[in-house]
Formats: sequence, structure tokens, C-alpha cells
Amino acid sequence: MAEFSQHHLLGIRGMKRSDVEAVFETARGFKDIINRPIRKVPSLRDLTVANLFFENSTRTRLSFELAEKRLSADVVNFSAASSSVKKGETLADTVRNILAMKVDMVVMRHPHPGAAHYLASKIDVPIVNAGDGTHEHPTQALLDCFTLTERLGSLEGKKVCIFGDIRHSRVALSNVRCLKLLGAEVMVCGPVTLIPKHFESLGVKVEYDMDVALAWCDVANVLRIQLERQGAEVPFFPSLEEYHRRYGLTEERLDALESKPIILHPGPMNRGVEIDSAVADRDDAVILEQVENGVAVRMAVLYLLAGRLGGSED
Ligand code: CP
Repeated sequence: MAEFSQHHLLGIRGMKRSDVEAVFETARGFKDIINRPIRKVPSLRDLTVANLFFENSTRTRLSFELAEKRLSADVVNFSAASSSVKKGETLADTVRNILAMKVDMVVMRHPHPGAAHYLASKIDVPIVNAGDGTHEHPTQALLDCFTLTERLGSLEGKKVCIFGDIRHSRVALSNVRCLKLLGAEVMVCGPVTLIPKHFESLGVKVEYDMDVALAWCDVANVLRIQLERQGAEVPFFPSLEEYHRRYGLTEERLDALESKPIILHPGPMNRGVEIDSAVADRDDAVILEQVENGVAVRMAVLYLLAGRLGGSED
């Protein structure tokens, strides 16, 4: 088994480059397996994984569930909307009760930044952060970078620009950390109101002009505007039409480039806002490859964490 130093997967922060490489090496093996007629392996047989989703999800939730089932784990799914959280039960009590039913691993999405770290301080079983508010979404960054390595080989020196609502995005922070760990050059691009000042301290370039950023990058990772997290009395930009005019990825913008970037989007997409339909459906957009790779990468993460059950934390 590839060397993996993590007891939990709470964020890309704290991971070593060798941990990321272990996930990729393991995911390559699982990708071969899930493309065979018999897609299941017994690796997590007799283990039970709880998927705790306190916030909506399509891709992450389904791909964790598929990953667990393809590894032969028993799976329980929890959705906050139909749970006793509605009756005032705390996060720690909810999870302790689920663990009392002999659960071996927890995958959790939660709207509050730091929720996965908080839980890790309260319980012993491995926790996988499936997105905590505006903080981190480590498996999304791992699957994005895995998809890029399939296309580009090593990411050393490759130029990746992340476009959009950087301020409210957990995908942006995890991607910056993962890309930097793998030696890529990283830029963020969006309206000045949607790029927090501290991003420069992460060692990334900041650009406010989309056409300049597009001409610079080998890869364009386009993020949606997270209107549900904005809640500001004063809006961050004048209107969605204005946003699309300045930061929408259109065919016209791509046609003006000498060299076209690989296009990523973590989903969900808002077609006609941050990305036009004609672009999202182009051959140089790898959006569905990202989704496909999500299952193999999540299988790898669960498998590597399970391999450390009963072992000591480094
Ligand atoms: N990319 C992503 O996290 O999508 P979901 O919110 O649908 O899980």
C-alpha cells in the first residue's frame, strides 16, 4: 500500500506531497477497476461508513456513496434536513450517537468552516471533510489535480488560474494548496470584492482582468458565484449580467486566445453566468472527467485511511 501519513482527511493543509501522490497512485488502480465489468473490490468489507450531510450536495454525496459501495463497505446516509438536528441536537451528540451504532469512518459536509476539525477533536474514527463552509473541500482539490495529471503529466511549473468567487469558495482554497504542493504556478482571477487580501500570502498571483488571466494560464478552473453564501447588504458586484460580461467564460474569449486552456469546473454550474453552455460542452472542458475521477479518488482516500485504522498518527 502507498505511504499515507494522515489519520483524517480534514483539508489539503497538513498533507504532504507524498500523501497526495499516494492518493493518485491508488486512484489510478481503482479507476482501472471501476471501468471493468465487475467494479467491486472487497477492500472495506466489514467496515461501516457514515455519510453525514448537513448541507446540500449532488456530486460529492453520490460519489462518496458509490466509492464506499465499490469498496464493499456498509453505508449509512444521514441528511440534516430529516434528522433530530432539527430538534436541537448538537453536532457532537449526533455523531456520538451514530458512532454508538458501530460506525468505523465518517464523511461529513457541514456549512460551518472548521466543523470537520471540531469533530476530529471529539471522536476517534477517521473523518473525511466533504466540504466545510467556505474553508476546505480536499477531495474536490484531489480529484481536480488528479484529472490534470491525467491530461498534463506532472503539474510542476504548469500555470493554473482559478476564476470566480474566490472569497466564498472552499474549492479555491483547497485547490491552491494542492496545486502549490504539486509545484504548479497558481493565479486567482475575479472581481476585487470576491478575492480576499490574504490570498496573496498563499503565494498566488492575483489578476482582475479575465482576458489577461486566460492568456497566461494552461488551465482555467471556473467557479460559480455562491449567492447563497454572500448575504451582504451591499452586493459584491452590480448584477449577474455584469458579472457574465466581465468574468463569464465565453467562446469569444477562448477564440481570441492563441493557446486554449484546459477547462475545469467543480459543479454545480450556472450556465450563462460564469460559463457559457457552448464552452461547458467543448472537448477541452474536462468537467465530466472530474466527476468520473471523483469516485476513484474518493475510493483511494477511504482505502488509505482504512489502512491506517488501528495504527498510530504521525
Ligand atoms: N463539487 C461539489 O462539491 O458539488 P456538490 O455540491 O454537488 O457535491
